[in-house]
Amino acid sequence: MMKGDFPVGEFAGRKTPFYFYDLPLLERTLDAVRREIKDRPLWKVHYAVKANANPEILKRIAAAGLGADCVSGGEVRMAFEAGFAPSSIVYAGVGKSDEEIAYALDIGIERFNVESTAELLVIEEMAAKMGKEAPVSLRVNPDIGAHTHANITTGLAENKFGIYHGDLEEVISLALACPHIRFKGLHFHIGSQILDMADFVALCNRINDLTARLERKRLPAGDLNVGGGLGVNYFHPNHLPIADFKSYFNTFKRHLILRPGQALHFELGRSIVAPCGSLICRVLYVKQGTTRQFAILDGSMTELIRPALYHAYHRIENLTSDEPEQLYDVVGPVCESSDVFDKGVSLDACRRGDFIAIRTAGAYGESMASTYNGRPLPGSFFFE
Ligand code: LLP
Repeated sequence: MMKGDFPVGEFAGRKTPFYFYDLPLLERTLDAVRREIKDRPLWKVHYAVKANANPEILKRIAAAGLGADCVSGGEVRMAFEAGFAPSSIVYAGVGKSDEEIAYALDIGIERFNVESTAELLVIEEMAAKMGKEAPVSLRVNPDIGAHTHANITTGLAENKFGIYHGDLEEVISLALACPHIRFKGLHFHIGSQILDMADFVALCNRINDLTARLERKRLPAGDLNVGGGLGVNYFHPNHLPIADFKSYFNTFKRHLILRPGQALHFELGRSIVAPCGSLICRVLYVKQGTTRQFAILDGSMTELIRPALYHAYHRIENLTSDEPEQLYDVVGPVCESSDVFDKGVSLDACRRGDFIAIRTAGAYGESMASTYNGRPLPGSFFFE
């Protein structure tokens, strides 16, 4: 959606900041995903709920036939309530509580992605008590570094996630010996906002080596889940609004060796929802500093923490003004020097009351919002 396409007329009288969701773009994105895997009946995409758990967004994604990937009992509940069938919900996380495990067993989710031996034994014990069988994949730490921000790589041996790949045989044998665990497969995830397909090729190679090793030892690998991580283009939301699903899925088609009947699961979050969301704010004040000019917005790091937390770039546009551009440091009102969306941004000249769009904010925006400084959570606007 270009600057001129935002329905700014409908924003008047609305409380800012709010999240604007371009639902036709979400639908086009979901179509693009489905198109790439339509000839692969054993491939299934689970949407990573952590990227955006807005009930309306979840509802649309469930209706499109994707499964859900959750990392807490709360997310399992939100996914279930939004219409995802329990049999399409996978659940990962290094610290699942007893309560969360019981809830997931109770509704009958598709899979626990188990991250340690200790967790495996607790699930076995709880399933025994509840008279259930727990379907389990083992999350393997593949020890692969993705070329992305250090805070969002998850597949290195030093990260807290998953079971070290050298210990895999031992843990599979243990899972097979647990009477209330049904061992179903292996799970991987190497990081997020990955644009270099070579990182996914490295993951495929690692998985191929592992499954061959297991085969030699006559141990099952079960089905495979390669996690998520496909990145989006934050710099060109108008020209490249849909992630490169073709290259992504082709990488797995070309490089991952699958046995006949072996299913393959994906857990995409960001690439599905990032482009369709923008944070809409208003300019509160334009302030002249000694060397810089500030556009002070009513939106802040409490609605969108990515710039403050990861120095993440989001394109910023003034939706109201057509006046000649000027340079601004675009900041929020929160009492933190890191409450800055970007510095030295060229924007059509800003005045008090102008609507500002912070683009590509549909993933890890609303879902990471907080009430720090006593700020209310942002509302949402769905463009149909
Ligand atoms: N599966 C697992 C096990 C994950 O840990 C994640 C994300 C995903 C799937 C989905 O990854 P995606 O397709 O969205 O890259 N808050 C950070 C991103 C954290 C990602 C955490 N794990 C950000 O705003 O960049």
